[in-house]
Amino acid sequence: MRNHKSRLAVFCSGDGSNFKSIHRTIEDKQLNAEIVLCLSNREQCGAMEFARNNGITTVHLTEKQFTSFDEFADAMLRCLREHGIEMILLAGYMRKVPDAVVAAFRDKIINIHPALLPKFGGEGMYGIHVHTAVLAAGETQSGATVHLVNEEYDQGGILMQRHVPVLSDDTPETLAARVLACEHTLYPDSLEKLLAEQQS
Ligand code: GAR
Repeated sequence: MRNHKSRLAVFCSGDGSNFKSIHRTIEDKQLNAEIVLCLSNREQCGAMEFARNNGITTVHLTEKQFTSFDEFADAMLRCLREHGIEMILLAGYMRKVPDAVVAAFRDKIINIHPALLPKFGGEGMYGIHVHTAVLAAGETQSGATVHLVNEEYDQGGILMQRHVPVLSDDTPETLAARVLACEHTLYPDSLEKLLAEQQS
């Protein structure tokens, strides 16, 4: 393993529990990486608060701050380059990453999705909507997927998946909680594997 720690940006929109689990894994020296930046479309959210409390640079960036989407994408790219970011982790980021950023960071953007892709992915499939759809479809298994990000929603190559059972009395909320607990080990495990491959 090289000594160089991969410089990560984490993109979040909400509680940031996946961000926290990755941060904890790094603190425990199980990942050869450092979280340099937390970028969010919401200035006030659990993830940004956690970053501020842990000395991680926060960047609040939304399309609304710019007159065009291209300007927004340019600002995001500039920010990532200024901070020497090598890999981007989407952790509950509820926005589409601009194509220009995907192209500049090809195969270096990772997402976690709360279902077994390719099922229950695509536009509008995020957060609680995913679990509602899984229950409506009568599935007996759900789970989480870590995958590469390309220009299409939830369609990049799958890196790792883990199953969780769907119980007969599940509500979207109880299923979401079981899947989220699974995500908290799946995301760090996927990163460990990916970084080991890249750094060997
Ligand atoms: C997680 O369940 C994550 O998989 C999901 O949002 C939640 C964020 O929780 N992401 C998506 O639905 C993306 N399509 P967190 O903020 O506590 O990590």
